[in-house]
Order: sequence, then structure tokens, then C-alpha cells
Amino acid sequence: MLTDGREVRSSVVSSQIALHAVHGGVVPELAARAHLEGLATVVDAALAPVPGGWDAIDAIAVTRGPGLAGCLIVGTMYATTAAMARGLPIVGVSHLAGHVYSAWLADPELEPPYLALLVSGGHTECVLLREHGIAERLAATRDDAAGEAFDKVARLLGLEYPGGPAIQRVASGGDPSRFPLPRTRLDGAFSFSGLKTAVRYMVRDLGPEALTASGVPRDRQVVADLAASFQAVAVDQLVTGLVAAADRTGATTVAVVGGVAANRALREAVTARFSGLRVVVPPFDLCTDNAAMIAAAGWQRLRVHGPDAPGFDVDPSLAECA
Ligand code: KG4
Ligand code: ZN
Repeated sequence: MLTDGREVRSSVVSSQIALHAVHGGVVPELAARAHLEGLATVVDAALAPVPGGWDAIDAIAVTRGPGLAGCLIVGTMYATTAAMARGLPIVGVSHLAGHVYSAWLADPELEPPYLALLVSGGHTECVLLREHGIAERLAATRDDAAGEAFDKVARLLGLEYPGGPAIQRVASGGDPSRFPLPRTRLDGAFSFSGLKTAVRYMVRDLGPEALTASGVPRDRQVVADLAASFQAVAVDQLVTGLVAAADRTGATTVAVVGGVAANRALREAVTARFSGLRVVVPPFDLCTDNAAMIAAAGWQRLRVHGPDAPGFDVDPSLAECA
């Protein structure tokens, strides 16, 4: 729950990580069912510290896309019902805009224009937020998202889901130069599938004696060195793409947002590379998926574009970034 779009009064996250971890990735049907089961409890918990509860609410923001259709439908049905029952305006928000606005939420001095590197499990893009409600996508991934690459490489190395934090942890004890991995440099785009495939071949080429029955390297140091080598190249590709976008737009303020922005190596590399510019990296809780960022983006969207008509459609492949 936010006041004036920027002051977080409460923020409640119901994590599904444990639910999906046993499957090694998100299972869509389980995700939608967990949303259905958890939603009312989460909303009640977010309203509990707010004097007046529902009576203090002026508008509702809900994620309209992109994402899994079942999850989006559960959320919008709940929000639409609440809005209609209470006679409140409702605004459907892009999940991508939410991530872009997590930087605006994190830094009270930040105002557009700013350039955001949005790196999550489903997305890798450079977005220029020109002004509130108006954004331009400058670069996107041609194949895997950065977070997806972390998750897939973690699986190849026998590490747990989600892969990003696991790779970061073991990479801290690894040598990033031991395994030479290829860098993919594209003009105005990102690509991570070549890097992921290169790790797959590196693992295979260790030979059968070096691998467990499930094909994972036995030697913990090999795992650490591969994780460190992968992380270094992934971070380098992201920073290179961000530098190109910054050069193209002349941006003087840069933000790194989305789940992968929690990565320490990425934070350090961006901060070092853009030392002359203003760099905003939200705290961990705002980097990973949360409703506060959706409310912040929704507050600006409501102000600029007005409310949506109840009954609007969800869009699992929504590309809008503001
Ligand atoms: O934004 P997010 O919470 O959910 C999506 O919208 O996808 O991002 C989740 C992604 C996962 O792929 C996870 O592995 C990655 O963020 N991630 C990290 C780290 N923490 C989370 N990747 C690299 N390093 C981390 N420390
Ligand atoms: Zn996300």
C-alpha cells in the first residue's frame, strides 16, 4: 500500500519459491492456484497496518501483463471485484513498468528521464523512461532472459532454484578466468543462449568420470569456477549493452532493476562503469517481484492516462514499459 505513489506504507510478498523449487522452475498451473489461495491473505496483511483499512484506499493497481495467463487472470479478477465493490478506480499495470518504477520508488530524488536495465527471469531490456507514463524500449533479448540463463546454468551445475542467488554464492569462491566462455555482442539487442550452450558443452567436455550420474560436475571447485566464469561473461554482456544504450540516448541517470539486479557482481560492474553518472540500484526487496513497484507505476499511470474500464483484458505478452 502506497501513499502519494511513493511512500511505502506496507508491502507483503507471498513467495512461491519453495513451491516451485522441487520442480526446478515455475509450474504455471501451480502458480495460478497458489495465487488464488494466497491472494486474500496477502491483501489483508497489506491492509492490516493501514488505519481505516479498505476505507483508506483511493485506487487499485493490478498487473495486467506480461506473465502467466492464469496468474494474471486471478489477480485482475480479484482487483476488479474489489474495485467494483468499493467504487474505486482501477488501473492495469505492465509488470515491466513496475520494475522500471522500482528505481523511482527506491530513490526519492529520481525523476525521468532515466535509462533502466531491466533484468529478470523473463526479461532483459534497456528501457528509457522519457517521462511518467511514456517509455521507449531500446534493446531486448533475442532468446533467453538473463535470469533464465542464470537459472538454466545453475541446473547444469547441480545448483538449486532460483539459480541467480546460487550462482552468485558459489561464484564468490571461483576463478572467473578458468573457463573461457564466448561473449555475444549484438547491436541493440542481448543474447544469452550461446553462453548457456557454451557452459553445457564445457560441462560435457569435462568427461564422464568428472560428472555425477545426473551429469553434474563432481568437483566443487569446477562448479565454482564455471559459475564464476559464466557470471563474469553474463555481467559483461549486460554492462556492454547498457553502455551502448546510454551512449545512444545520452542518458545521465542509469537504473538497474529486476531480480537479476540483486546480483552483486552486476551492481559493482555498473557502478564502476558509470562512475561519472548517477546510478540507482534498488534494494533487494524492490528488485525481486513485489506489489509496491506495481502500485508506484500504477499511481503514475492513473495520473497520466486515467483509470481503465473494469473488465479489461490481461495480456500475457504485454510489451509496454510505462
Ligand atoms: O524479477 P524477478 O523476481 O521475477 C521475474 O519477473 O522474473 O526475477 C527472478 C530472477 C530469477 O531468474 C533469479 O535467478 C534471478 O532473478 N536472480 C538473480 C539473483 N537473485 C535473483 N540473478 C543473479 N544474481 C542474483 N543474486
Ligand atoms: Zn519481475
